Amino acid sequence: MVGSDSAAGHVLVVGSTMIDLVAYTQRVPEAGETVVGDRFQMGFGGKGANQAVMASLVGAGVTMAGAVGDDSYGQMTLQNLGSFGIDTGHVHAVPGPSGVAPIWVEQDGTNRIIIVPGANEGLTVAMAVEAVGSLADLSVVVGQLEVPQAATAAAFAEAGRRGVPTVLNPAPAAALEPELLGGTDWLIPNEVEFSVLAGGAQPDDDALVAYAEHTGTRLLVTLGGDGVALVEAEGKVSRFPADLVEPVDTTGAGDAFVGAFVAGLAAGLDEMSALRLGITCAGESVTRPGTQTSFPSGERCREILAACS
Ligand code: RIB
Repeated sequence: MVGSDSAAGHVLVVGSTMIDLVAYTQRVPEAGETVVGDRFQMGFGGKGANQAVMASLVGAGVTMAGAVGDDSYGQMTLQNLGSFGIDTGHVHAVPGPSGVAPIWVEQDGTNRIIIVPGANEGLTVAMAVEAVGSLADLSVVVGQLEVPQAATAAAFAEAGRRGVPTVLNPAPAAALEPELLGGTDWLIPNEVEFSVLAGGAQPDDDALVAYAEHTGTRLLVTLGGDGVALVEAEGKVSRFPADLVEPVDTTGAGDAFVGAFVAGLAAGLDEMSALRLGITCAGESVTRPGTQTSFPSGERCREILAACS
């Protein structure tokens, strides 16, 4: 077991890495149609990696548990995570291709994403549990749905035994295995994922409270330009507006929110302050193209953290 090297707490991300292949276009094609795009950008993504990078930029110590392929994308991904100071000792190289994500971004910044998980499917229960066990000063564990749910569930169970809070970003939306939901303290879907999980419900106050009661978790729903809805511990819904910005590319904004929120919790912020930190980081990210490349710099993140503390 090793100790944390950060006074701002230590976050374990059990999650995915992807290579993002982003096409910017005036409009997306209809079935059978070809359109001419404006620009292409390749970058580092994956919801897990994005959240790890955001948390590290905010100042948390970050360890990632995941799996990359035995290809050049895998090597590039490890180097990229390392360049942000993220501990990659639990990111395993497994046979096969790394995960990739073809992404279309339209003029108004909205995105459509297909993920092809590849090596991400190779993360095992044993790998995830070993990562939790290796960290003495663990503050928060965060997961998403781009790696096998069983691995995340096992990490959450292990964290729960140690009293470490767990945060699940259920993206892309899928039915949640009971073991995973049972080990989740905070659930953070976006409005699309909320609707899928809650049987088609819209995120009005009654539906939010009912779903939080149903899951037995704390619930935060990100609503894009409409901000964030929080079901408070007493069951009351509070809504927080997004910052007014001109969106260029919304890809990764949810990850910026989740990564900053968990880093805030790890740093000892209360939930409202961590939420404001998440909203500001996500708001700034949509004003720039790309995924991790759109996140505020480490220096800017420290300013935002100071303002939210
Ligand atoms: O949330 C955005 C991310 O979703 C992209 O980086 C893409 O890789 C997919 O995981």
